Amino acid sequence: MFSLPGLLLLACLLNLAAAIPAPTVITTTTHTTVTSCSCTSKSTSKGHTYTSTLQGTSLCSKSKIQPTCKTTTSTLNKLITTTVSTPTSTSKHTTTTIKSSTSTSTSKPTTTTSSKPTSTSKTSSSFTSASPSATPIKDSGKRGLAYNDPTLTEPFSLSGQNSKVSWAYNWYSYPYTSGQTQSGYNPALSFVPMLWSAAEVLTSVWSSNVAASKANYGTTAVIAFNEPDGCGGGQACMNVSSAVAAYQQWMDPLAGSVSLGAPAVTNGVGTGIGLDYLSTFIKNCTGCHIDFVPIHWYGDASQTSDFETYIGQAYTAGGNRPLWVTEFGTTSGTAQPFLQTVEDWMDGSSMVAKYAWFMDEAGNLINSNSSGLSPLGVVYNSG
Ligand SMILES: *[C@@H]1O[C@H](CO)[C@@H](O)[C@H](O)[C@H]1NC(C)=O
Ligand SMILES: *[C@@H]1O[C@H](CO)[C@@H](O)[C@H](O)[C@H]1NC(C)=O
Ligand SMILES: *[C@@H]1O[C@H](CO)[C@@H](O)[C@H](O)[C@H]1NC(C)=O
Repeated sequence: MFSLPGLLLLACLLNLAAAIPAPTVITTTTHTTVTSCSCTSKSTSKGHTYTSTLQGTSLCSKSKIQPTCKTTTSTLNKLITTTVSTPTSTSKHTTTTIKSSTSTSTSKPTTTTSSKPTSTSKTSSSFTSASPSATPIKDSGKRGLAYNDPTLTEPFSLSGQNSKVSWAYNWYSYPYTSGQTQSGYNPALSFVPMLWSAAEVLTSVWSSNVAASKANYGTTAVIAFNEPDGCGGGQACMNVSSAVAAYQQWMDPLAGSVSLGAPAVTNGVGTGIGLDYLSTFIKNCTGCHIDFVPIHWYGDASQTSDFETYIGQAYTAGGNRPLWVTEFGTTSGTAQPFLQTVEDWMDGSSMVAKYAWFMDEAGNLINSNSSGLSPLGVVYNSG
């Protein structure tokens, strides 16, 4: 269901773009197909009452509520902006934004949710100032920032905030990508390099960027490929054998000097997708040193219990390694109560070592004029 010819063509175009030695900006929409369940009537399970608004992948396997649920296939439309630059300018800058979510029913779902994840925080008006005089301080905590603009890391972990944000990443191997002013990254945050894919433009600078990040930006961990189980823009599109070979070539040599994260998979469901891809990767990556397992999750804001169930499934699929939830967010519903619930839950979960809300950007964790934290950002920073 995932390998539509159009997506493969798109993937090919993106791969070709990676070899062109001139900055290229690609904006496109990709479709991620997710099988899920939509409950069309009330039922109770584990003390919860499920209503028609509930949708979720793991719901399908909960036998007690299954009779009241309809299996659906949802397509997440992701608006992707990809900037690919030359090896000398050392940049692969990827922005992935969930634009909308639509459902195509295989039975008869009565509800279809569709909204922008950032819309819930845009109307908020209070904020915490990123005063130039505020001093960044190193905080502990599982929370991290997924960012594109380094200056938007500044409002977090400032003196007096009692912040739980301690790390950041930008899908690239260095805090700044090409064309960005090389200043503004919050020095309190431990930077986590990612090898987005095995494209030469990225591997050619990988070792030196990791070394420079270790020397200057508190790096203690690195993450492998971004959504190799997907072939849309913003997704690395690597089959398991390619990912294994690239992991052995580029990640394994760093074992012992930094913690190594497996490829970060989507929460898509199906053969070769999501946790199925993850377990195959781990099984086939013989001799590989894997310290932790990054995963992504997107769903409706009502799906807090599905989120928690998914974490348990991912922990098992990852061979009981610590999980880093390096992207999570809501595709519909109100983000703030969802974030509050799951961040508290993850802080108390021994399965989850780190996590990063999608994402640190204006109109999301940052207020719409980029002057400081949004109310959602306050919840994430110190809530
Ligand atoms: C930015 O927006 C916030 C509300 O989100 C407002 O309080 C603040 O005054 C604005 N700052 C500027 C410089 O416009
Ligand atoms: C995996 O991908 C590589 C590189 O694109 C390709 O050469 C290889 O044939 C693929 N292997 C399988 C089993 O599809
Ligand atoms: C995993 O490894 C086995 C044994 O080498 C191989 O047969 C299988 O094709 C591999 N799976 C993938 C998805 O590459």
